Amino acid sequence: MGLAKWYAGVRWRRKYRLPPGPKGVPLLGNMLQMPAYHQGPWAKEMAEEYGEMFTIKIASNTWIFLNSSRVVYDLLEKRSSIYSSRPAFPYTSTLMSGGCRMVIQPYGPQWRSIRKTMHAILNITNASTFAPFQDTESKQLVWEVLKQPEHWWMGNQRYANSVIMSVVFGKRVLGRDDNVERLFDTSREFIMAMQPGANLVDTFYILDKLPGPLKWWRRRGERAFEKVVGVYEKEVRDLKRRMEDGTCPPCFATKFLEDKETEKLGVTQTLFALGSLMEAGSDTSRMTLGQIIAAAATDRRWVKKVQDELDAVCGYAARLPEFADRSKMPYMSAVAKEGFRWRPFAEIGVPHMLIKDDEYEGYRFPANTIFTWNNWGIALSEKEYRDPLRFWPERWLDPEIQGVDPKTLEDPLNGHWSFGAGRRVCTGYHVGDTNVWLAAARLLYCFDFEENPDKPIDTMNLQVGEHRWAPFEVKIKVRSEKHRDLIETVGKEVVGRPYGV
Ligand code: HEM
Repeated sequence: MGLAKWYAGVRWRRKYRLPPGPKGVPLLGNMLQMPAYHQGPWAKEMAEEYGEMFTIKIASNTWIFLNSSRVVYDLLEKRSSIYSSRPAFPYTSTLMSGGCRMVIQPYGPQWRSIRKTMHAILNITNASTFAPFQDTESKQLVWEVLKQPEHWWMGNQRYANSVIMSVVFGKRVLGRDDNVERLFDTSREFIMAMQPGANLVDTFYILDKLPGPLKWWRRRGERAFEKVVGVYEKEVRDLKRRMEDGTCPPCFATKFLEDKETEKLGVTQTLFALGSLMEAGSDTSRMTLGQIIAAAATDRRWVKKVQDELDAVCGYAARLPEFADRSKMPYMSAVAKEGFRWRPFAEIGVPHMLIKDDEYEGYRFPANTIFTWNNWGIALSEKEYRDPLRFWPERWLDPEIQGVDPKTLEDPLNGHWSFGAGRRVCTGYHVGDTNVWLAAARLLYCFDFEENPDKPIDTMNLQVGEHRWAPFEVKIKVRSEKHRDLIETVGKEVVGRPYGV
């Protein structure tokens, strides 16, 4: 080691102090210790060993995992103005997304402007815009599950996607749609690319300085960019055609594209603003619904209670649950909340980057340190929740269980970190919450879910991120012939009926 490097190291250690963590190896740091996917159980083990925070190195990046609600709240929430950027991703953000994918844009004016636009569409005051679409699509969902129970996960996927497509593009997705399939592919590729260490240049920034022809990943990234832009452009072309035909009802995209402010964003950012909504709005609700189905199939105790509540309000197979019933269905709201907590799919959170040196409880963090909340570790920690592995809606209703005030039940952010934290908190959390509440209420009202004893569901490894095949096997049976009749009746109102035609 050169003298200058050694001296820089000494100065660094005098100035900064980081939480402990596992020892890494030169150059790669801890990169090879962290599993490539499904990192939650590993991160939980680390938290058990090191306490409320631990530090790892992924090549030149320093990551600090926040392992308790207390420290997540203190840093990502209370100090959100400096803990809300994203690290650089030369491959995933710059090449693959033209710097325009909002979820990984750095904190700054471009991100702020897109976030403002999204907030305007997705915030709670717009709930009434979403509600009729959620109603229509969840009627079709129960009909699809009745007709093809073995394709239940496709139904959840079409439901969530069609709600967001209706609001954004004024278009229902009535069944399999090639462009939507491509959208799911591009989302999957994006999520894969985001995994720490998945693309060397996203962790070894020095590689980005290589001359163009030596960047072996460049063509792959450009192809991914062309593919995703192609998907977004096709939707916009289709929208314009329907506007000309007079078959497009008013929707967000028509207003957005006509707005003078949108022109300032440029073509690529405009496409990605629309596309990010489709992307973020589809997979997430599907995955949460999948988790609730897994919980229903593996533990009848809570299902019986929620069905009793749904039947008491709606009658036995008399009508489907509605949003207007929500205040009379606290148990159902607790089911939805527990669905978000139980096995969080953003297992190790999403990286937040600190933009300025900071001090906390004796530690001194340098700017550019990456912080993430240990979502799995916290959600499944006995220090945070009583009997954390159990899907136990009562924990949100009975203050005796873990001291939660039931008045906070309908605040989707309260009690867990599955929607993230601080200024980067999920913009779509109201839509996500209402999507899940209504669809889960209707599915649980209409069907019973059972595990196949020969293929038990591994709830610690649900693989709900998969959109191409069933993440697990589950038997779904309609609750009675009366329920079947009800589903057939509501299905007739909505199945195969596009808007505006
Ligand atoms: C249904 C369950 C959902 C879950 C569990 C979820 C979870 C998340 C998480 C963990 C983040 C990162 C937060 C952070 O970095 O602190 C996020 C960001 C985001 N979500 Fe969601 N989400 C859901 C639904 C939705 C829906 C329905 C939409 C849109 C219609 C949406 C739009 C977004 C956007 C645009 C961001 C990026 C925010 C930013 O970087 O500023 N999400 N979501």
